[in-house]
Amino acid sequence: MPRFGTRLSLGLLVLLGFMTFLLPAHPQGAPATADKPAPAAQAAASPGAPAAPSTPAAAASDYVGSSEQCKVCHADEYSSWEHSPHWATTLDTRGGPAHQGCEGCHGAAASHLADPTDTSKLFLFEKASAKDINARCLTCHASGTEHMAAINSLHAKNDVSCISCHSPHHATEPQFLLVKAQPELCYSCHLQQKPQFAMPFHHRVNEGLVQCTDCHNPHGTIGEHQLRSSATQDAVCYTCHADKQGPFVFEHEVVKVEGCESCHTPHGSPNAHLLKVSNVNILCLSCHTTSFTNAPGAPSFHNQAAQYQACTLCHSQIHGSNFDPTFFK
Ligand code: HEC
Ligand code: HEC
Ligand code: HEC
Ligand code: HEC
Ligand code: HEC
Ligand code: HEC
Ligand code: HEC
Ligand code: HEC
Ligand code: HEC
Ligand code: HEC
Repeated sequence: MPRFGTRLSLGLLVLLGFMTFLLPAHPQGAPATADKPAPAAQAAASPGAPAAPSTPAAAASDYVGSSEQCKVCHADEYSSWEHSPHWATTLDTRGGPAHQGCEGCHGAAASHLADPTDTSKLFLFEKASAKDINARCLTCHASGTEHMAAINSLHAKNDVSCISCHSPHHATEPQFLLVKAQPELCYSCHLQQKPQFAMPFHHRVNEGLVQCTDCHNPHGTIGEHQLRSSATQDAVCYTCHADKQGPFVFEHEVVKVEGCESCHTPHGSPNAHLLKVSNVNILCLSCHTTSFTNAPGAPSFHNQAAQYQACTLCHSQIHGSNFDPTFFK
C-alpha cells in the first residue's frame, strides 16, 4: 500500500513538473506553488544547487535510481565501480538517487536509458571543464580539512582537476584510485623536482620512505606551496622533526621567523644536512658577517681559518637551546 502511494505522488510530481515546464514565464502562478513544490521548480530556484553543477536541473524522475541497468552495456565501467569505494554510495540513501551509484557522478540517466544515443543530460567528464569536474567531485568530497582549500588550490587554478590524478574507472593504483603511484604521478608534471630528489642527499621520496604528499597537500592549502602544516598549525617539518620545535629559552630567531627553508632545501642538496649551500660557514655568514665587526662579544678567533669554518662544531644547538644564548649546548 505505501508503495502505491509513493508511485502515485511521484506521478503527480512529474505531472506538476511538466506543467511548470509549460508555464515558464509565470512560475509563481504555476501549480508548483501549492504546498508541495515540484522538484523541477525547486531545482530551478537554486541553480547553484550542489547536486548538479553543470547539467540541466534534474527532477527526481530523471534518475534511474539503480546502477544495475547500466551493467548490460557498460560492463567494464560497472565492474571497476563495483570494486571501488564508490560502490558504498548505494548504501547511503540520505541524498537520494542524485548522490548514488553511477548517477552520483554522471547525473540523471533516465533519458539516456530510454534512448542510449541521448547523452545530453549526462555529466561527461571527458568533455567537462576542470572547474566543473572539481565541483562535481566536491559535491561529496568537500567536507573535512583535506579538501578545505580544493576550489582555490594552485592545481585547481591551473586547470588540474581531480581526474588529472584520480580515475574512478581506470586507476592503476587501487588505493585512492590514483592514475599513477607517487612520486611518478607528481613527476609527470613537475619535471624540475625530479633532479632535486636525485641529489646526493634528499628526503627519501624515490625510495618510498617519505611521500610528496607528506609535506604537500595536492588538494591545496591556505599557505604557500600547498604545504601542509603540523598538528599545531606550524611548519609541516615538525610533524617528523618534533625535537626542532622547542620552545627554547634561547631561540635562533631565524628558525621561527623565516622558517626551515631559510637554511634547508628539503627536496635535495649537495650537503649532508640538506643545507642550501655546500659549506655551513657560507650559510651562516650570509646573515652574520656584520656581527663580527660590530658586536663587542664577537671573539677575535672568528676568522675563517680552517678550524673555525665548521660553525656548528661549537654552535651545535643551532635550532635553539635551553642552556646557552650562543647555542653551544
Ligand atoms: C542499452 C545500452 C545502454 C545502457 C543500458 C546504458 N548505456 Fe550508457 N551508453 C550507451 C551507448 C551506446 C553510449 C554511447 C552514446 C553516444 O556517444 O552516442 C553510451 C554512453 C554513455 C556515457 C558517455 C560515455 C562517453 O564516452 O562519454 C555515459 C557516462 C553513460 N553511457 C552512462 C550510462 C549509465 C550511468 C547508465 C545506467 C543508468 C547507462 N549508461 C546505460 C549504451 C547504454
Ligand atoms: C566517482 C564518480 C564516477 C562514478 C560513480 C561512475 N563514473 Fe563513469 N566516469 C567517471 C569519470 C571521471 C570518467 C572519465 C574516465 C576516468 O577518469 O575514469 C568516467 C567515464 C565513464 C564512461 C566513458 C568510458 C570510460 O570508461 O572512460 C562511461 C561509459 C561511464 N563512465 C559509465 C559509468 C557507469 C555505468 C557507472 C556506474 C556503474 C559509472 N560510470 C560510475 C566518473 C564516475
Ligand atoms: C595533483 C594530484 C591530485 C589532484 C588534482 C587531486 N588529488 Fe585527491 N589525492 C591525490 C593523492 C596523491 C592522494 C593520496 C592521499 C595522500 O597522500 O594525500 C589523494 C587522496 C584523495 C582522497 C582520499 C583521501 C582523503 O583524505 O580524502 C580523496 C577523497 C580525493 N583525493 C579526492 C579528490 C578530489 C575530489 C579532487 C578534486 C577536487 C582531487 N582529489 C584532486 C592527488 C590528487
Ligand atoms: C555521490 C558522492 C560521491 C561523488 C560525486 C564522488 N565521490 Fe569519491 N567517494 C565517495 C564515497 C562515499 C567514498 C568512499 C567512502 C570514503 O572513503 O570516504 C569515496 C571515496 C573516494 C576516494 C578514496 C578512495 C580510497 O581508496 O580511499 C577517492 C580518491 C575519490 N572518492 C575520488 C573521487 C573523485 C575524483 C570524484 C569525481 C570524479 C568523486 N570521488 C566523486 C563519494 C563520492
Ligand atoms: C620534506 C618535505 C617535502 C617533500 C617530501 C616534498 N616537498 Fe616540495 N616543497 C617543500 C617545501 C618546504 C617547499 C618550499 C620551498 C621553498 O620555500 O624554498 C616545496 C616546494 C615545492 C614546489 C614549488 C617549487 C619549488 O621547488 O620551490 C613544488 C612544485 C614541489 N615542492 C613539488 C614536490 C614534489 C613533486 C614532491 C615529491 C616528488 C615534493 N615536492 C616533496 C617540502 C617538501
Ligand atoms: C597534471 C599535471 C600535474 C600533476 C599530475 C601534479 N601537479 Fe602539481 N602543479 C601542476 C601545475 C600546473 C601547478 C601550478 C603551476 C606551478 O606552480 O607549477 C602545480 C603546482 C603545484 C605546487 C605548488 C607550486 C608552487 O609554486 O607553489 C605543488 C607543491 C605541487 N603542484 C605538488 C604536486 C604533487 C605533490 C603532485 C603529486 C601528488 C602533483 N603536484 C601533481 C600540475 C600538476
Ligand atoms: C614525513 C616525515 C618528514 C617530514 C614531514 C619532514 N622530514 Fe626531514 N626527514 C625525515 C626523515 C625520515 C629523514 C631521514 C632521511 C634519511 O635517512 O633518508 C629526514 C631528514 C632530514 C634532514 C637531514 C638530516 C640529517 O641527516 O642531517 C633535514 C635537514 C630535514 N629532514 C629537514 C626537514 C625539513 C626542513 C622539513 C620540512 C620542510 C622536513 N624535514 C620534513 C622525515 C621527514
Ligand atoms: C639557521 C639555519 C637553520 C635553520 C633555520 C634550520 N636549520 Fe636545521 N640545520 C642547520 C644546520 C647548520 C644543520 C647541521 C647541524 C650540524 O652540523 O650538526 C642542521 C641540521 C638539521 C637536521 C639534522 C641534524 C639534527 O640536528 O637532527 C634536521 C633534521 C634539521 N636541521 C631540521 C630542521 C628543521 C625541521 C628546521 C625548521 C624548524 C630547521 N632545521 C631550521 C641549520 C638550520
Ligand atoms: C637567514 C639568516 C641567518 C642564518 C643563515 C643564520 N643565522 Fe644566526 N641568527 C640570525 C638572526 C636573525 C639572529 C638573532 C638576531 C641577532 O642577534 O643577530 C641570529 C642569532 C645567532 C646567534 C646568537 C647570538 C646573537 O648574536 O644573538 C648565533 C650564535 C648564531 N645566530 C649563529 C649562527 C650560525 C652558527 C649559523 C650557521 C649555522 C647561523 N647563525 C645562520 C640569522 C641567521
Ligand atoms: C671554536 C668554536 C667556535 C667556532 C668554530 C665558531 N664559533 Fe662563533 N662563537 C664562539 C664563541 C666562544 C663565541 C662567544 C660566545 C659568548 O659570547 O658567550 C661565539 C659567538 C658567536 C656569535 C655571536 C657574536 C655576537 O654578535 O654576539 C655568532 C653570530 C657566531 N659566533 C657565529 C659563528 C659562525 C658563523 C661560525 C662559523 C663561521 C662560528 N661562529 C664558529 C665559538 C665558535
